[in-house]
Amino acid sequence: MRLEAARMQARASEGVRRRQLRVDDGPLHCRMGEYEGISFCGNDYLNLSTHPAVREAMKKAIDRYGSGSCASQLVCGHLPVHRDLEERLAQWLGRESVLLFGSAYQANLGVVPALAGRGDQVHCDRLCHASLIDGARLSGARLRRYRHADTDQLEQRLAAPGEGLKLVLTDSVFSMDGDLAPLPELAAACSRQGAVLMVDDAHGIGVLGRNGAGALEATGLDTCDVPVLTGGFGKALGCSGGFVAGTAELIDHLVQHARSAIYSTAPAPAIAAGVTAAIGVVLDEPWRRARLRENIGYFRRRAAGLGLELPGPEGPIQPVILGAAGRALRVARRLCEQGHLVMAIRPPTVPAGTARLRITLTAQHETAQIDALLVALAGILARDPDPGA
Ligand SMILES: Cc1ncc(COP(=O)(O)O)c(C=O)c1O
Repeated sequence: MRLEAARMQARASEGVRRRQLRVDDGPLHCRMGEYEGISFCGNDYLNLSTHPAVREAMKKAIDRYGSGSCASQLVCGHLPVHRDLEERLAQWLGRESVLLFGSAYQANLGVVPALAGRGDQVHCDRLCHASLIDGARLSGARLRRYRHADTDQLEQRLAAPGEGLKLVLTDSVFSMDGDLAPLPELAAACSRQGAVLMVDDAHGIGVLGRNGAGALEATGLDTCDVPVLTGGFGKALGCSGGFVAGTAELIDHLVQHARSAIYSTAPAPAIAAGVTAAIGVVLDEPWRRARLRENIGYFRRRAAGLGLELPGPEGPIQPVILGAAGRALRVARRLCEQGHLVMAIRPPTVPAGTARLRITLTAQHETAQIDALLVALAGILARDPDPGA
């Protein structure tokens, strides 16, 4: 084992050394190490992680089945709670069938290599989540990354002569930028060029669409447009785990070949029950999505009023691009000291020179809390201006 102290030191001096933060209490009012305040850095957009119906469903599943599923899904780990979740999810998403995974990361890591391999091409948006990139690398297919949201560049590449499957991968909502991929245009380009589109809707599920069924519901795309849909339960659904949804034939293929589902213990029964309950809450309590939208609108209006320029997405992920990693770290630390818990996101998670604050909003944030965050941020930025501006 070669632990590179020099490299670690270099990372620290460039402001990109990662640290595991100790969280002592949460999720919304949070204590993290020496800081305490209101969290603006989680993905619990609808605050379902503490919803009574979700907690209750999880407790009941523990009482009925115990703590774990005790085996992989293909051995004896696939319990009635997993079947219930698969059916509920398939119905909600308008897909024939679903396969569950321990996380959305595992879903992408398992699905891509099960679909593509040597001799195939995988085309990823440059800002795709790491799990899609890792799945593509693992597949052994030729990986090409097209410019962010640039459907024209993608289509030119797809149109070039080439053998094998052409698989296109994109996030629906980009995890560090918060913007929405041009899904209808991507689907049309894939259809014209005979490529298969796979969308990771980790940040769209629960938030987008009339019934909260995600980005594909919001854009009116069906299984023909997007044959492979993955996503997770760790964001707006407040639990953990991942899935892939598609035709029964696709899911049957993945049951044979998606190694991260085949060779991994099935999600805990309490997780499956909690997610099923969370889907029920999304459908029964649309006011949560409405409240979230109001908070996003308020945040953006108030930020503009304070002269803060934000790149533009209308979703719960609001990046504030600060440039150098050191500056992003400094600003985040000052916010945390004042009780606004915001994290700095730095390279290599985001491209060099685009270190940022990743501010996330939830339905339960109060306008006074949003106000206080933005006033503090405007003050800190005024005292620590962008040297390149
Ligand atoms: C777009 C996207 N896909 C996948 C994942 C992985 O999700 P999970 O935490 O369920 O592994 C994330 C979150 O980190 C994400 O943002």
